[in-house]
Amino acid sequence: MSTLKVGVVGAGWAGRQHLGGFAARNDVEIVALAGLEVDQVAALKAEFGIPATFPRWEQMLDEVELDAISIATPTALHAPVAIAALERGIHVLTEKPIAASLADAQSMVDAARAAGRVLQVVFNHRLRGDIAELARIIAAGEIGETYVAKAGWLRRAGIPESGWFAKRELSGGGPLLDLGVHVIDYALRLLGEPDVLTVSASTYAELGTKVVEGFDVEDIAIAFVRLANGTTLTLETSWDAYRPNNNEFWMTVFGTEGGAELRVIDYTESELKVFRTRDGVIDDYVAVPGPNGAHPEVIAEFVDAIQAGPLEWPAHDGSLGLRRAAVIDACYRSAESGHEVTVTAG
Ligand SMILES: NC(=O)c1ccc[n+]([C@@H]2O[C@H](COP(=O)([O-])OP(=O)(O)OC[C@H]3O[C@@H](n4cnc5c(N)ncnc54)[C@H](O)[C@@H]3O)[C@@H](O)[C@H]2O)c1
Repeated sequence: MSTLKVGVVGAGWAGRQHLGGFAARNDVEIVALAGLEVDQVAALKAEFGIPATFPRWEQMLDEVELDAISIATPTALHAPVAIAALERGIHVLTEKPIAASLADAQSMVDAARAAGRVLQVVFNHRLRGDIAELARIIAAGEIGETYVAKAGWLRRAGIPESGWFAKRELSGGGPLLDLGVHVIDYALRLLGEPDVLTVSASTYAELGTKVVEGFDVEDIAIAFVRLANGTTLTLETSWDAYRPNNNEFWMTVFGTEGGAELRVIDYTESELKVFRTRDGVIDDYVAVPGPNGAHPEVIAEFVDAIQAGPLEWPAHDGSLGLRRAAVIDACYRSAESGHEVTVTAG
């Protein structure tokens, strides 16, 4: 096992998580950081002992020899940074969503395949203890065959503070991309990763435009999704809507032998209930989640995949992120056209 020389692009919330994850590994050396905020970058340089820092990612790639980079920038930059790195033979971990558009996501995956390098997307929520426990319950057959699922992430007044999130040119979209990509990821994983056939969606921007200047993405998105295994999935995501809790995500599943409902408020208040009958008598219970996984575990998976060697790399070509991008692209196409659309295979 060799020591990987890693550079991080982005010095905001996500970039900090990446630095922390890489710093926890003794087979990684953080050799560079790029970010536009001078003070923030200097503080992270000092905290993590990073030898080289740059304002822009292009300089970092030109001036430092790297084995891997992680990307924690506004979403529209994921594709140009990733493709430039992959073309140099550098492995890439990128934040969710994989890209601002399906076309960008496809170009990234094509670049990873052409380069024969790892491209991985950060899906940290699927590693939460409660979501992992729900996955275990479904996979163990405790609720039988699933046929209806409802999932979502709604915020009452939760437009992200970094202004780029609300500008389509930089983000690619609103809560459907930002929060919905996590929900689509965990919902499809929990349902056994079925192909997604069609989507019918609506989006609105009734409130965000009154709160943020230049707001040109949706503030709420609702979708009805048909899956190849016959299951129906509904999705709801919002950054701003008149509703009780500020920040709540969930997954409800109905199966032939039982049901399950996970609700999480403000990330920490979590309850996972399982509904079933035994010998005709109600036998519901509240499940106990395992330990939480988050960015450190995602970063560990990325480093482990690289360290596993070239035979392992093709299994990490970004195609999971691309499949999520295809669902989101279909939602936006449906909302624009006003009718159900077929999901383009990602
Ligand atoms: N997985 C999660 O739970 C999670 C949570 C929050 C954000 N994210 C994702 O992380 C990414 C960043 O989000 P954030 O909240 O950290 O944003 P942020 O605005 O806090 O940080 C973005 C960083 O990108 C840097 N940047 C912009 N242009 C650059 C350039 N040309 N060269 C170098 N650096 C540049 C900025 O200087 C800044 O440091 C987004 O894709 C977002 O969707 C993921």
